[in-house]
Amino acid sequence: MNPSVQLLNLIILSFLISSCTTSKKDDQPQNLSEAYNDYFKIGVAIGPRTLETDQAELILEQFVSLTAENVMKIGPIHPKRDSFNWGPADQIAEFARSNDMVMRGHTLCWHNQVPDWLFILGEQEVIRDTLLNRLKFHVTEVVSRYKDIVYAWDVVNEAISDKDGEQYRNNKWFEIVGEDYIAKAFQYAHETDPDAMLFYNDYGVVNPVKREKIYLMIKNLLGQGVPIHGIGIQAHWSIEKPTEEELVKTIELFASLGLKIHITELDISIYPSREDQEISQAEFLETAEQKQVEQYQMIFNVFRKYKDHIENVTFWGISDRRSWLDNYPVAGRKNYPLLFDKDLQPKKAYDVVIKF
Ligand code: XIL
Repeated sequence: MNPSVQLLNLIILSFLISSCTTSKKDDQPQNLSEAYNDYFKIGVAIGPRTLETDQAELILEQFVSLTAENVMKIGPIHPKRDSFNWGPADQIAEFARSNDMVMRGHTLCWHNQVPDWLFILGEQEVIRDTLLNRLKFHVTEVVSRYKDIVYAWDVVNEAISDKDGEQYRNNKWFEIVGEDYIAKAFQYAHETDPDAMLFYNDYGVVNPVKREKIYLMIKNLLGQGVPIHGIGIQAHWSIEKPTEEELVKTIELFASLGLKIHITELDISIYPSREDQEISQAEFLETAEQKQVEQYQMIFNVFRKYKDHIENVTFWGISDRRSWLDNYPVAGRKNYPLLFDKDLQPKKAYDVVIKF
């Protein structure tokens, strides 16, 4: 071949290779939120202190929605009857505002992480009207403060009972007010911010028995005209559960009520049972990682399929460096439930979630 033709061929070939590799790189989504831009918002639950660490960069890179893991709950944010502790929640809200993110508010009415004063007046337990007044005051103050940044609230959390044959969890709210504390909480939130999307949030939603109880409750609330717009499926799942079949049934059931679905607290525990012995990270990589990869792949396949109903998928934590599952349901048992490892590096599960 004539040397100048050879040279020309070489130039064309190297141009083709380089353009091919660049376009491949450009096609790859660079983060979770970009990958799911046409599907749903990807969020993460955080505490304010993480914003002062190397984790802030990862939050900014990957997520568009923030949830306060603890600091907007009644106890932390409203520790005394007449005073609020806004600082920590404000810090997260300010971070969201300055970085064009949105927030999910968590949570206005729950039986856990409540302050001591809430159910007591003097030496006695409060009566129904007092407790409803307190609920209204709490909801109004908190919802109005974050109106500009919180687009969806978990209004009531975990009100359904896990016990056979019992519909409502027998907590202080239920005991003192009766079941209509639930409707009232939604009304107060809606009056304060008519634009906010209001959610009922719970765990165990894919369990057929609990699912049915939740369905009944929401159907009733909708029938009474209560402003409830969506169901929050917490999604504290494991490498074995849920099955695809149960997950699909659950999404279809709640979608049939016209509800929006948020996956509010996603993590995939590597321990299917509370009896499982702790394993090290090396053992996890050898024995359980593949199962976790498959579980993440399955659930995101389903989520994508139901993108018309699912609006937000939020992880309950940033990375395996720290998760509430390190202390629940077994104190001190290290878990590896998220998409990033303790060094904030993407795990194999990240790859299957991002590449589809
Ligand atoms: C958990 C937090 O992650 C922990 O840090 C805290 O000690 C207890 O609460 N369901 C919920 C969340 O709705 O608020 C819980 O968060 C996890 C279970």
